[in-house]
Amino acid sequence: MIRKLCNVDQLPEEGKLRAVQGDGLDLCIGMLEGKPYAVQNACPHQGAPLAAGCLQESYVVCPYHAWRFRLSNGQPEQEGDPPLQTYEVRQYGSEIFLRLFQPVERP
Ligand code: FES
Repeated sequence: MIRKLCNVDQLPEEGKLRAVQGDGLDLCIGMLEGKPYAVQNACPHQGAPLAAGCLQESYVVCPYHAWRFRLSNGQPEQEGDPPLQTYEVRQYGSEIFLRLFQPVERP
């Protein structure tokens, strides 16, 4: 299932995060090297909103206890921590779409 996420001009700036919520979704969107990525917004540790954290290098840093997850694939920096659910993001013209129900496995 594909759904529209937002327009290109609503994406966060490079190196920034933004929460996108609605229709049962709570996502953290980030931009890396001009490409948008989407991961779950709730931190798997204690549920902090990851979009309120920051992006350091290629990692989303949780605002509560600084757990770090790679934005591109949701993998935790610390071995043994749970990964984030990731979503495939695609751009068609000036619109950004999200593929739902099929989390993307990225290397
Ligand atoms: S709630 Fe995110 S690291 Fe604790």
